[in-house]
Amino acid sequence: MPLVSPSLLSADFTNLQRDIEMLNHSAADWYHLDVMDGVFVPNISFGFPVMQAMARYARKPLDVHLMIVEPQKFIPQVAALGAKVMNVHYEASVHLHRTLTAIREAGMLAGVTLNPHTPVGLLEEIAPEADVIMLMGVNPGFGGQKFIEATVEKTARLKELLLRTGSKALIEIDGGVNAETGGRLVAAGADVLVAGSAVFGAPDPEKEIARLKAL
Ligand code: DX5
Ligand code: ZN
Repeated sequence: MPLVSPSLLSADFTNLQRDIEMLNHSAADWYHLDVMDGVFVPNISFGFPVMQAMARYARKPLDVHLMIVEPQKFIPQVAALGAKVMNVHYEASVHLHRTLTAIREAGMLAGVTLNPHTPVGLLEEIAPEADVIMLMGVNPGFGGQKFIEATVEKTARLKELLLRTGSKALIEIDGGVNAETGGRLVAAGADVLVAGSAVFGAPDPEKEIARLKAL
C-alpha cells in the first residue's frame, strides 16, 4: 500500500481552502507542493506566501518539491513552513551532500529528485544520505503530461540500487501517475505516489485517492 501525495498544482487555485479540506478528509498521506522558478523549469507556479496559506489548513505533512535553481538557499523557509519532506533536484544541486545534510539538520526528510534523463546510477554514493528519492515520470514544469514509460524499469533499477547500497530511502514517483501507471510503479518498488491531474481531474477526487492508496 503506497503513500499517496496529491499535487496541489492541479487544485483549483480559487478554491484552495476547499481542496485542502477535501484532502484533509481523504486517505491522502502527504500534500505535494510544486515550486517552479521559470529558470530550472519553463513555468512558474507558486511560492512561499501561497504555501504558508496552504499550510494553515493542511492537516497532514507537506511534501515540498523545489523545481528551482539553488534550492539550498531556501532550506530555512521550507523548514519554517513545517514541511516534512524537502525535495531538491539532483540537476540543480552542485553540492548535493551538503544540501541533504542541511535539510536533515533543519529537521526534514531529505529528498533527491531525478529528471527523466538522469540515470539512477548517479545515486550510488549519495543514496544512503537521502530519506526520499523521487523519480520524475514526466519532464518537470507542468501537470497533466503523458507518463514516460521507461520510469517503470527505472524504478526497479532504483530499488535494486537502494538494496545494494543499504539505503532506506523511500521511492517516490512524480508525474503521469494514475491508477494504471501507479499499479505498475508500486509493483516495481515505488513507496510514494504523487498524483495531480489524476486526483483533481477525477469526478470524485477522494475516491481516486482511495483507489491509488489501495494499489
Ligand atoms: C510536474 C510536477 C508534478 C505535477 C504532476 O512538474 O512536479 O508534481 O503536479 O502532475 P500530474 O500528476 O498531472 O502528472
Ligand atoms: Zn512535483
